[in-house]
Parts: sequence; C-alpha cells; structure tokens
Amino acid sequence: MTLSRRDFLKVTGSAAAGVGITVGKATHAEAPPADVGRATLPYVPKVIGRAGQMKNNVPVAFTFPDPSSPCAVLKMGTPVPGGVGPNQDIVAYSTQCTHMGCPVSYDPAAKTFKCPCHFSTFDPERSGQMVSGQATENLPAIVLEYNAKDDTVRAVGVEGLIYGRQSNLL
Ligand code: FES
Repeated sequence: MTLSRRDFLKVTGSAAAGVGITVGKATHAEAPPADVGRATLPYVPKVIGRAGQMKNNVPVAFTFPDPSSPCAVLKMGTPVPGGVGPNQDIVAYSTQCTHMGCPVSYDPAAKTFKCPCHFSTFDPERSGQMVSGQATENLPAIVLEYNAKDDTVRAVGVEGLIYGRQSNLL
C-alpha cells in the first residue's frame, strides 16, 4: 500500500501528538514535589537557659545560630508577643543593630535595646520593633521554644535577617 503525502502527514502528526502527551504526563508525574511554602531554614536548636534561673529585666548573652551571631535572651516579667515560658514573657533577639551592625546594649530602665553608634532604639516587648534612630528594620527575633518538663528554653530559629548576612545560616 502506498500513502499519499497528505495521508503520511496525518498519520505521523497524530503519532507525534500522542507521544507528546505521553511524555508531558510522564515528566509531570516524575517531578519531585515542590518545596512550596517552606518558611523556615533548618536551624540546629540550642538550649540557652532555664526559665526558672532567668531574672526579670536582666539580659543573658548567647550566640545563635553560630558563634559569630551575638544575641540576648530576656525575661520581661509580663507576657509579651512571641514570649515563651510559664509566663510567656521570655524573648530573645540578635544584638547586632540592623542599621550598620553595631552591638546594641540593653537599658533596663527604659526596657529598650540601644545602639551607641547612631542611637537607634528597639523594643523587646514589641517583637524587637525599631522605635527611633537610623535603623529601618526591627531587631531579628530569635524564635524560642519552652520545654515545661525540664524548664529549658531553646533557640530554634530566627525571624528577620541578621545584619550583614545574605542568609542567617552560613
Ligand atoms: S549602627 Fe546602630 S544606629 Fe547605626
């Protein structure tokens, strides 16, 4: 049997379309699941203290998520947004100013972190909010978890970008 040019194109065109559909389905089915919506990086949790040993309004220094990232944990004495522990009053922040990275220090009288370089202030009772000064970003908040069984407070993540980094995890 001989095929005309037109019949040949009809047959091969249909076959090609069929193959295209099959390949398209196979490719789609074999694609790995997208990691859509992942909002947290795989931080290594770190115990930073026991709630019962923390004193109200007295910061305790620690580093997280690595030794070159200074932070402070604070027990505010009253429940605050993001606070953990028996009274939901324990919070922690990076202590590098978000303006140019100077180390901020805690003023217990004003209950704020203050930067000595260009005088920005940050409020630990309001999620590290920038209150005044040259900075335009809040202090990065350290995400904490509290374990009531052993009274430990663990750092498990960071909300916000630590000053000078492209990623919080180096
Ligand atoms: S480095 Fe803190 S205000 Fe400039």
